[in-house]
Amino acid sequence: MKSFRLEIFMQVIRQYPKTRMRRLRQSKWIRELVSEQHIRPQDLILPIFVHQSEILEPIESLPGVYRWPIARLHEICKMAHDHSLTCVALFPCINASDKDLEGRHALSDDNVLIQAIKTVKELSLNLGVIADVALDPYTTHGHDGILDKNGHVDNDKTLLVLSELAIKLSEAGADILAPSDMQDGRIGAIRSACDQHGFSQQVLLSYAIKFASSFYGPFRDAVGSTQTLQGASKATYQQNPANRNECFHEAALDLNEGADILMVKPGLPYLDILYQISEQFRVPTFAYQVSGEYQMLFPNEAALSDRKRVDMLLETIIAFKRSGAQAIITYAALLVAGALV
Ligand code: PBG
Repeated sequence: MKSFRLEIFMQVIRQYPKTRMRRLRQSKWIRELVSEQHIRPQDLILPIFVHQSEILEPIESLPGVYRWPIARLHEICKMAHDHSLTCVALFPCINASDKDLEGRHALSDDNVLIQAIKTVKELSLNLGVIADVALDPYTTHGHDGILDKNGHVDNDKTLLVLSELAIKLSEAGADILAPSDMQDGRIGAIRSACDQHGFSQQVLLSYAIKFASSFYGPFRDAVGSTQTLQGASKATYQQNPANRNECFHEAALDLNEGADILMVKPGLPYLDILYQISEQFRVPTFAYQVSGEYQMLFPNEAALSDRKRVDMLLETIIAFKRSGAQAIITYAALLVAGALV
């Protein structure tokens, strides 16, 4: 379909020198006045890794990002709050000795993710808590589920555990559940489990469109699944990066199953998808700037204090907003918020 507005414009548009595009670029205040997008700290979600140890442990492949002990979780939450962030996403790192083939520790009451949710809610900082619903941190093979005899994730068996995990996380106080594993039917399974257990108000953020990406490397280092996966691929459940049509199918399924928010992941390499999904479905759509994207911007500690790198970061965040994201999960949320003031 031809754009009606564009046709009118082309007929009546005044040519240079009557039209001078630079008029609205001549000073900062006027550029901001006509700016179509703005970044607010409230648009950013800070991922936080929590582990079972007592020490604050740097993650080598993610400079400036740490594994937090429960006892010090208040420090990073306070930092988030002081930077006007309003939401965090918690990811557990599980001791190798607690991992097994079926990821049973996920459902244990001393699961560090459950402890972390309770801890953050008890701080009363008004921080929204997003909890990851997936089994990869808990399995000895690093896959997001229970394997069948062929070594593939058994979809339906996995859904049963995810549903149970979702209830535990809801009981602990998670505000948003985020199933990140790309098993079929997980949104529907979790939605009906929530409804049956009195959590009909539970918000589900669906990783509806998640590609089998090589940009997840540093995250896998962080949660220990680089080791457990031993180079195995997740291509039997995550999407083929070549496919665009499939994204609409995935998004439609998850909305029908009861998702409240869609997410596209990774971010920058899939901006085309983000734009089209937000245009077509017109539901809240988030982007995940994943670990490998962060690593490209901040390959070492020195990069964190390099203003040119931070400006590159801000440009990526505005690209997500321009492409239709309401919110962005980024390991650089504090850096972005710090650069806005
Ligand atoms: C797995 C999960 C992954 C990420 C979030 N949840 C990795 C994977 O699918 O192997 C990646 C996030 C990142 O790279 O920042 N449930």
